[in-house]
Amino acid sequence: MSSSILETKGLCKAFGGLTAVDEVDLSVETGRITSVIGPNGAGKTTLFNLIAGVYMPSSGEIYFEGKPLGNAPPHKRAALGIARTFQNVLLFDNMTALENVMTGQHPRSRYGFFEAALRLPKAHREEETISLKAKQYLNLVGLGMYSDRNPLSLPLGQQKLLTIARALATEPRLLLLDEPGPQRTHQAHPGDGHHRCPRRARHGFGYGHCRMGHRPRQRPEDSGRHCLTDPEEQEGHCSLPR
Ligand SMILES: Nc1ncnc2c1ncn2[C@@H]1O[C@H](COP(=O)(O)OP(=O)(O)O)[C@@H](O)[C@H]1O
Ligand SMILES: [Mg+2]
Repeated sequence: MSSSILETKGLCKAFGGLTAVDEVDLSVETGRITSVIGPNGAGKTTLFNLIAGVYMPSSGEIYFEGKPLGNAPPHKRAALGIARTFQNVLLFDNMTALENVMTGQHPRSRYGFFEAALRLPKAHREEETISLKAKQYLNLVGLGMYSDRNPLSLPLGQQKLLTIARALATEPRLLLLDEPGPQRTHQAHPGDGHHRCPRRARHGFGYGHCRMGHRPRQRPEDSGRHCLTDPEEQEGHCSLPR
């Protein structure tokens, strides 16, 4: 039996005359890291937008835990356990770093509008639990000491880590990271944890995880599969047809 949490079959997306994603067959196995690699414009973000339900495919199908996602909108896919980060960092600047991570937990909270508005004990207790868990996720990405900081006061690399913590806080079954590492122009400190923290989280929480970037991962043991959009650059790995 296949252990794939995510499979795409013949996935295509065209914008007018431009085919951004062309016949992509991708398989992400539960508990493994899968990388999608290609140069700018290769279609990586579009592929993630298709999986997250931001765009509907022109043709092809996406299967999550063996079932076709069909036309399910983004919030239904999020409820199923598909979480993603964005290539461009999107954080709430009127909240602290910790509160940003707490927002990841809120879709899973059970208290209602009135319990929150009237500050009833149920809402209070649940908020405390959410805050404790959010602290754990902040620690996991190495940002525990910055919980009270305005997220935009952090360097870009740490902002990206914060978005990973927020995505982890949704307790996903599949985590999609769109260019999670620092940009080439924003080289991070080698110990900053961009590559370590998803691995730690995978061992700690056990979920499938798919990352994308321009270069292959240097640690083949981490990646179930490299799917490339530039076969000349990355000979020897499987390539996506263009
Ligand atoms: N909403 C859109 N409308 C039209 N073209 C788009 C849209 N989104 C992406 N594209 C085009 O699709 C191609 C793939 O883009 P993208 O998925 O962002 O690539 P990558 O993330 O690999 O850099 C690019 O040529 C881009 O201009
Ligand atoms: Mg992109």
